[in-house]
Amino acid sequence: MSRGFLPYGRQTIEDDDVAAVAAALRADFLTTGPLVERFEQAFAERTGAKHAVACNSGTAALHLAALALDLKPGAAAVVPAMTFLATANVVRMTGAEVVFADVDPATGLLSPETLEAAFSRIDNSRLSARAALPVHLNGQVCDLAALAEIADPRSVQLVEDACHALGVNKIGAARYSAAACFSTHPVKAVTTGEGGVVTTRSAEMAERMRRLRSHGMNRDSNSFVDRAEGFEGKNPNPWYYEMTEMGWNYRLPDILCALGLAQLSKLERFHERRRELAARYDNLLAPLSPVIHPVSRGNVEHGWHLYVIHVDFPALGMTRADFMNALRDAGIGSQVHYVPLHRQPYYRDRYGDIALPGADAYYERCLSIPLFPTMRDDDVERVTAALARLAG
Ligand SMILES: Cc1ncc(COP(=O)(O)O)c(C=O)c1O
Repeated sequence: MSRGFLPYGRQTIEDDDVAAVAAALRADFLTTGPLVERFEQAFAERTGAKHAVACNSGTAALHLAALALDLKPGAAAVVPAMTFLATANVVRMTGAEVVFADVDPATGLLSPETLEAAFSRIDNSRLSARAALPVHLNGQVCDLAALAEIADPRSVQLVEDACHALGVNKIGAARYSAAACFSTHPVKAVTTGEGGVVTTRSAEMAERMRRLRSHGMNRDSNSFVDRAEGFEGKNPNPWYYEMTEMGWNYRLPDILCALGLAQLSKLERFHERRRELAARYDNLLAPLSPVIHPVSRGNVEHGWHLYVIHVDFPALGMTRADFMNALRDAGIGSQVHYVPLHRQPYYRDRYGDIALPGADAYYERCLSIPLFPTMRDDDVERVTAALARLAG
C-alpha cells in the first residue's frame, strides 16, 4: 500500500484471500453452498459460540436478532445513543420503538446506571421493554454481567452489538445475552466486503434466524403446517416449501464465505498487530495529556477496532473541523464515531429533544485516528508527531 494517505481504518487482503475467492468462483455454488456452513462453524469455534448464522451485513445480523426476539409495535428496545445508526434502525425496522440510553462520558459505553435510567423512562410510557442492545464501542467490552443483572428481572433480553469486538475473548459466546451481532465490513477485524454474523446459545433462535435470512422459507417437511400441500400420503412432496412468517434475503454468498474463512484464520495475527500499534500510540501520546489523551478503556479486554482520542478542542483554540482538516493536509485520515443518535433529525422528529449529557460530552471530544494491521510503527510516529504539532 502507498504510504501516502493514512485512512482511519483499512482492510488487509493478502494473496491467500484472493486465491480463496478465485477458487470459490470456480466452484459449483456462487451463493448458498458448502462454504456458508464452514464459515459459520469456523466463526462459532473462534468466538466460543454455540451457533453462528452468517448474513450479508452487520445491520442484517442485528435485524435478524431483533426479529427473532419478536420486537414489534408496542415494544421498546434500549439503545445507547453513542453508536452507529444501524443499532437503532433495526429496532425501528421491526416497528418497535427505540429508547435511547445515555453513556459513560469517558468510555462511551452503556452502563448499569444509564440502562436503569432508560428503563425508568419506559416505565413512564405505554411501551413494554423487551430488549436492550449494549454496544462494545471501539472494541471496549461492556460490563455484560452487570447489565444482565438489571435486564433479567424485567425479562428484557440483551442483544450485543459486537460489530467492534470480534477477536475479544468470549465475545460471541453470548453468555449474558440472547445474541451477539458482528459485522465483516472492510474496516472491521476481518472482512468479507459486506457481511455479518449473529451468534447465539439458542438452537431455536438460530434456526429461526436462518429461516428469516432466506424469505421466511422452510424446506423441513417435519414442520410443514399445510400437510395436504406438503405431502403425498406419507411422503413429503419434493418441490414443496413453505413460508409461515415474513422473511428477507439476507444470505451471505459462498464467494464471500470463502474470503471470510481465509480472513478468520488471521484474526489472532491482525488483533495482535492492532494491540501493538495501540500500545505504541499510548506511549507516544502520554506527553500530550490532558489536552489529547486516549479514550478511557472500559475494560482490560479490547478488540482494538478503533483507536479513539479525546481532544479538548476549546483548549487548543481550534474547532474539530479545523483539527481534522489539518490532519488531512498532513496525510492523516480521522473520523468521528459517532454523531449521537438522539441528535439525528429522524430520531429528533420521532422522540423530541432528549438530554443525554454523557453521549454529548463523549461526542464533543472524540476523534478516531488511524489503526489497521498493515500500519507500520513509523506510521504511528507520524500521526502522533502531527498531533503534537497541533497540540502546540
Ligand atoms: C457499532 C456498529 N453497529 C452496526 C454496524 C452495521 O454493520 P454493517 O455496516 O456491516 O451493516 C456497524 C458497522 O458499520 C457498527 O460499527
